[in-house]
Amino acid sequence: MERGGVREGRTPYTRCLKEVKVGIHKAVIPAAGLGTRLLPATKSQPKEMLPVGRKPAIQYVVEELEAAGITQILIITGQKKRAIEDHFDRDPALIRRLQETGNHKLIGELEYEEVGVQLFYTRQSKQLGTAHAISLAENFSDGEPFVVCLGDSIIKSEYPGAFLKRLMDTHEKRNASATIAFQEVKSEDVVKYGIASPDPEHIEGLQFKLKGLVEKPAIDEAPSKLAISARYVFSPEIFNAIRKTTPTTNGEYQITDSIRLLMEQSEVWGLKLGEGEKRYDVGGFESYFKTFVTFALADEEAGESFKKYVTDLLS
Ligand code: UTP
Repeated sequence: MERGGVREGRTPYTRCLKEVKVGIHKAVIPAAGLGTRLLPATKSQPKEMLPVGRKPAIQYVVEELEAAGITQILIITGQKKRAIEDHFDRDPALIRRLQETGNHKLIGELEYEEVGVQLFYTRQSKQLGTAHAISLAENFSDGEPFVVCLGDSIIKSEYPGAFLKRLMDTHEKRNASATIAFQEVKSEDVVKYGIASPDPEHIEGLQFKLKGLVEKPAIDEAPSKLAISARYVFSPEIFNAIRKTTPTTNGEYQITDSIRLLMEQSEVWGLKLGEGEKRYDVGGFESYFKTFVTFALADEEAGESFKKYVTDLLS
């Protein structure tokens, strides 16, 4: 497929809408990564489809975007990722079967298939990193700012979508070229993440201007404990920055490097997750286990008995 080409064409109707649209309406979910840290679980299935409680991880991401008012989502997929497209497709045969057996509760569980957003898919044929995956969205973004949510990370919050809305508002208010989500992590964990160097002269509440970004610093060299947290808003300048990005030693183009280039010519802002908002990811076994258990314990039906089971197991 042509670079940046998307399946499901833009309709004349959406073209008309563009004339009167204000705000941010588009989002990209990179979900083409190989997921090698989760082998063998991800040998033939996408890590974004790993269950977290009752739903696959990527369903939370799509629901968060929908709750934030996004109307068009481009999912970047690749080999062995067909399950993602199948999951969001309507399955009339399954619904008919559930209707025949009178299983109305389970039909309710499939309501997500009716998501009020338009989903598009494009394939990244070589896994050349997150920046390369995002570069495939250039035609889709069509000169508009857009949200990026990594497909293996969930923001858990009482109000789904509220954080993303604040991220988009910050982006527009600050006229930034990029606005990035950050979460405070423990000192011993800064070595695992891209860490913010905030500009002390531009900090307002949870918003701050970025002076720099340091990749996986040692504790004593970290400029803060604010770790990049899988949610971004970009203006179209990001595509030029990606074109200028040089690959890392393993041949991947990392979005953090592109953001650093962007920072040289324009303003990049950060927004901290608020109270009660937390990032969870399914990228490695330890984080996946923690994520699963957190969501399973919060399950409305099975949570209480699961909690009892875990308590007994640990006592
Ligand atoms: P990761 O940085 O966790 O990379 O991706 P990965 O390749 O999936 O995992 P490991 O390191 O091999 O275990 C973060 C998000 O970006 C997507 C992934 O699918 C994931 O949702 N991604 C990553 C792409 O879409 N393309 C890439 O080339 C790399």
